[in-house]
Amino acid sequence: MLLQGKKILIGVTAGIAAYKIPLLVRLLKKAGALVQVVQTPASLDFVRPIVLSTLSGNPCPSEFSSESGDWNSHVDMALWANLIVLAPLTANTLAKMANGLCDNLVLATYLSAKCPVLFAPAMDLDMYAHPTTKKNIDMLKSFGNTEIPAETGFLASGLEGEGRMAEPETIYKAILAKFSTGYLDGKTILINAGPTYEAIDPVRFIGNRSTGRMGIALAEEAAALGAKVYLVLGPSAIHVENPNILVKRVESAKEMYTLCTDIFPEVDAAILSAAVADFRPKNQSKQKIKKELGAADIALEMNPDILKTLGERKQHQVLIGFALETNDEIANAKKKIANKNLDYIVLNSLNDKGAGFGYLTNKIQIIDKQNKIYDFELKAKTELAADILNTVFQHEV
Ligand code: CTP
Repeated sequence: MLLQGKKILIGVTAGIAAYKIPLLVRLLKKAGALVQVVQTPASLDFVRPIVLSTLSGNPCPSEFSSESGDWNSHVDMALWANLIVLAPLTANTLAKMANGLCDNLVLATYLSAKCPVLFAPAMDLDMYAHPTTKKNIDMLKSFGNTEIPAETGFLASGLEGEGRMAEPETIYKAILAKFSTGYLDGKTILINAGPTYEAIDPVRFIGNRSTGRMGIALAEEAAALGAKVYLVLGPSAIHVENPNILVKRVESAKEMYTLCTDIFPEVDAAILSAAVADFRPKNQSKQKIKKELGAADIALEMNPDILKTLGERKQHQVLIGFALETNDEIANAKKKIANKNLDYIVLNSLNDKGAGFGYLTNKIQIIDKQNKIYDFELKAKTELAADILNTVFQHEV
């Protein structure tokens, strides 16, 4: 386990989101990490040290000396830690960190640290958008610290917008990624996923049953193995929140084509798992088509083939396609490797029970460009994501 025995110090400052930090501590402890929490005095109003010390198994100081007169050494704690996480980080403490102030235990610990530091800002939307805050965040990043960006949602003020602390699970994933010594460290990967919707009019579309689950599992796994991931995602109901995945939402095949071809030159590999609609309505009505007009004939035209285009433009990149077949599976998949200039194809057949759209599981075969076939049993898409990356990248990147 990646976090087994890792020493993680969490600095808690006075944001409402401090009430979520016990959940983060639990996640880290479950993963085998050693956790030490330090609080600013003002944060004691939002989460009590008894909760954090019980969950972490360590005292949770907020002053330089305890009531018994013992010194809480910020230097010892800072040097103990393999990683420091400041969450939630208020605008006030952020500004102090950017300017080297240290009038409390959390700040003094931060300033004494030699290990990597993650910080998760949390504040109201206007404070988060303020140029001073932006400048302070940039300054912290320029010192080598890593931001876990705030999310958009309901804020304690009752307003809605950007400024909410990233969820504990997101912070946890950012911590995992920091410790990753995965074989994809330093690599950039493009993944597309989900269906595409091809508009008939503003209300109706032609689409397909893809959920995007397989591609999202690949993106999560690649990020956990250290890669920076671009995920170009069609209309999927699944929410992706991972600091190492840059999610670009699209709707149509044309939009997906534009983004994928733009991103492709800068990546080391591309995995095209999206169920791209092959055809789109030739004419898209700007207004809703009224039923009085009777059943319309919808003329279709071809969408661009994204994978084929990337195959034509391929230079150093490893290119992996998917194939969903109903008959002559292997022969058809092999044809796609040749026609689209692929390095690998992941084949799933609609004839396999529990495989394909809508299932949590899948059954695949991977075929490489030398026609070598790798077989896998029916298993969870999350496990298959690891199998696909292992098969492809252990050999290629
Ligand atoms: N693909 C693509 N752009 C398209 C159609 C497909 O990039 N317009 C990609 C898919 O993401 C997948 C691969 O091509 O990685 C194969 O998709 P599939 O639907 O199995 O095959 P098609 O090429 O569309 O051919 P057919 O539908 O005739 O089997």
